[in-house]
Amino acid sequence: MTIAAAPTDRGAEPASSPLPRLAVTRLTVTDFRCYRRATLQCDHRPVVLSGPNGAGKTNLLEAVSFLAPGRGLRRAALREVTRTGAALQAVWAVAAHLETPGGPVSIGTGLDPDGAANGSGRRLVRIDGTPAESQTDLGHHVGLVWLTPQMDRLFIEGAAGRRRFLDRLVYGFHPGHAAALNAYEQAMRERSRLLREGRGDPHWLSALEDQMAGHAVAIAAARRDVVARLRAAHAVPERQAAATAFPRADLALEGTVETWLTDGPALTVEDRLRALWADSRRLDAVTGGAADGPHKTDLAVAYGAKGIPAAAGSTGEQKALLIGLVLANARLMAAERGAPPLLLLDEVAAHLDRDRRAALFEEILGLRAQAWMTGTDAALFEALDDRARWFGVRDAEVMERP
Ligand SMILES: Nc1ncnc2c1ncn2[C@@H]1O[C@H](COP(=O)(O)OP(=O)(O)O)[C@@H](O)[C@H]1O
Ligand SMILES: [Mg+2]
Repeated sequence: MTIAAAPTDRGAEPASSPLPRLAVTRLTVTDFRCYRRATLQCDHRPVVLSGPNGAGKTNLLEAVSFLAPGRGLRRAALREVTRTGAALQAVWAVAAHLETPGGPVSIGTGLDPDGAANGSGRRLVRIDGTPAESQTDLGHHVGLVWLTPQMDRLFIEGAAGRRRFLDRLVYGFHPGHAAALNAYEQAMRERSRLLREGRGDPHWLSALEDQMAGHAVAIAAARRDVVARLRAAHAVPERQAAATAFPRADLALEGTVETWLTDGPALTVEDRLRALWADSRRLDAVTGGAADGPHKTDLAVAYGAKGIPAAAGSTGEQKALLIGLVLANARLMAAERGAPPLLLLDEVAAHLDRDRRAALFEEILGLRAQAWMTGTDAALFEALDDRARWFGVRDAEVMERP
């Protein structure tokens, strides 16, 4: 059955719309997971990938996730990603053409072939053919958020998952955030190593703690900024209700550095952090890491309308809360950067009732977001009709569907 889409402004919009967008217009994967090679020709429209379990749908979402900084949506060890059975020296690669608010961009990324041999496993990035100094540069071009079935337990499990989710939202507004997190963690690892080996030259340790403090304050400030923006976006309940069919999430940051920043200026917070870490050296030598810092922060989420912690909601309610958060973030980014992020929604439609599903599609289209959506049942996406680009995935082959 084909439901004729009501003609809307959006539906009538030509592919060469002058309004800024962020969209993958072509994706090629090579020796990537189950794929020897596959190419998807897209346009600005959302993408539907349907096919049986194990066909290779999530793998394609993972490939898109490598267009942003980080380890991708599976947080995989990069060597695992290379196709089993690929030639001896082969490494995985993802190449994409994108339409971005700053103009067309081509991105190539993959495992460093040199590193692959000695196991160092670095990810190389080329932007418009030029090697990027770091993955962080990707953040200047691509904003990207994902929801996966594993995240159904985000509110129930430990803080690490929620922190990562938040940090990914922060990348969209503060492209330097990924680099700050990396630099912080690297300094912390170096300090841990010195402490563990008992080579704790106090000057050296102080220098590292000084670096950590600077990054910690930048990290916490960026998180506070994004949480404040998300809160503000929710501040008008009537408008919010009109804008979305998804429940409002109340957000609170629970972290020492974030809290200290409410109490005083950044320089004072750096002093307090240096004092904290100088005091915890002996403890940290035993336990590893650092007793406190932005690597311990949690994002507390409550179901606004019900006044209950997110974890107390039903599975479906938790999913709806997460989708609401992702959409709120996308709306903010659209306002800020001219285009919403790419949305990778793995198996999301299956969890939603018919009305919510329809609402999700309308909100995605209204945002002009390129969402990549997967499902075993193409019928779930029927309401999108020709407002989406359809691909069937089966046994690691991708076919365009009419
Ligand atoms: N490195 C790899 N090499 C070859 N196959 C892989 C690799 N990693 C994962 N796979 C396979 O990819 C297949 C498809 O996975 P996935 O994309 O998650 O399927 P789905 O369509 O259900 O989302 C799985 O059968 C898995 O075994
Ligand atoms: Mg899957």
